[in-house]
Amino acid sequence: MCSPFFLKAVLLLAILIQMNAAGSSSNLLTDHVALLKIKSRITGDPHGVFKSWNDSLPLCMWRGVTCGRRHQRVTSLNLTGEALEGTLSPFLGNLSFLRSIVLDDPLSQ
Ligand SMILES: *[C@@H]1O[C@H](CO)[C@@H](O)[C@H](O)[C@H]1NC(C)=O
Ligand SMILES: *[C@@H]1O[C@H](CO)[C@@H](O)[C@H](O)[C@H]1NC(C)=O
Ligand SMILES: *[C@@H]1O[C@H](CO)[C@@H](O)[C@H](O)[C@H]1NC(C)=O
Repeated sequence: MCSPFFLKAVLLLAILIQMNAAGSSSNLLTDHVALLKIKSRITGDPHGVFKSWNDSLPLCMWRGVTCGRRHQRVTSLNLTGEALEGTLSPFLGNLSFLRSIVLDDPLSQ
């Protein structure tokens, strides 16, 4: 049996490797695909955050998504307090300009 910590470490490593691989050949479309993959793994979204993650708005305006001013690429995801359930897609690693991700739920601490 693998310990949960071991699995987390392996997942993190896989993400870091993919961040490298995604590198400079990625673009805003890569981010778009990645965000939709992340959305698809969320099984519980009581506040309907992910309803705004649709193509009627540019992805930089999706709830909790911040883009850099210079590159127009996703630089942070802040879904704090949204009580989300699900798993993190490995596509997270394709957000090559991502610098911060906040998924905590202050109410449950
Ligand atoms: C898409 O997002 C916008 C902005 O949040 C929302 O008003 C609209 O209802 C959403 N469309 C769908 C199909 O969920
Ligand atoms: C994330 O968003 C919440 C509320 O929308 C805000 O209070 C908090 O400061 C943000 N955290 C970061 C790291 O931007
Ligand atoms: C993004 O990540 C997935 C899975 O980690 C990978 O299969 C895919 O080729 C990557 N690249 C793009 C451009 O989506």
